[in-house]
Amino acid sequence: MKFLLVTDLDNTLVGDEQATLTLNHQLLAMRGQIGLIYATGRSYASAQQLKVEQQLLQPDYWVTGVGTEIYAQGLQDQNWAEQLSQDWNREAIALLTQSIPELIPQPADEQNPWKLSFLLHSNAATATLTDLQTQLMQARLSAQVIFSSDEDVDILPHNGNKGLAITHLRKRLKILPEKTLVCGDSGNDISLFQQSTLGVIVGNARSELLEWYRQHGQPHQYLANSAYASGILEALNHFELL
Ligand code: GLC
Ligand code: MG
Repeated sequence: MKFLLVTDLDNTLVGDEQATLTLNHQLLAMRGQIGLIYATGRSYASAQQLKVEQQLLQPDYWVTGVGTEIYAQGLQDQNWAEQLSQDWNREAIALLTQSIPELIPQPADEQNPWKLSFLLHSNAATATLTDLQTQLMQARLSAQVIFSSDEDVDILPHNGNKGLAITHLRKRLKILPEKTLVCGDSGNDISLFQQSTLGVIVGNARSELLEWYRQHGQPHQYLANSAYASGILEALNHFELL
């Protein structure tokens, strides 16, 4: 395998139809030599639907629900599921969130056994998130809170997110970090960039990811000028992976 391409879907691989087609065309020509992984916040079902709608290539792995689920050939990785279930008390966390009225639950099909998701539309979002973190800590409930696109709040097990799921797969596939490119645009992609792989932040990235990059960005992470899939292509050229 020449390299591993890991990409977020919404507003990274998907967002500019022509750019997605152009990238797909490039990747298809070398499909046998690359590993392809989609890492998305969407549920598996919703990600599958997007694949059909946008005519996306078939990936080797699906990392869905912000890294809480891994699928290959239609089967869920049970190993990963077991790992995430340790030190995770979903019921207690769900109960605790009911005392924070600003957190509006997302639809049932975006919830899963390792992911509680909410919408947060408030001028005081930062204060609400701090309150949530404090309450989790005081109740000794282990979890991580991820805020994306100024509205999505995900509560996940401490040992499960996109970045950790990708590292789990990359090690299984025995691919080096310098032969792996991760691509993203928003808060739920930050964990991808916290690994030691190559990375690209697409030109249309959201402020929370740009802010993270400003504080923690590394030379092996590239800020693309182009948006969406064109940004991915720009990075593949930049890192001379094609
Ligand atoms: C996707 C998911 C949603 C999640 C968001 C941010 O939109 O559908 O549940 O909150 O990504 O991770
Ligand atoms: Mg995205």
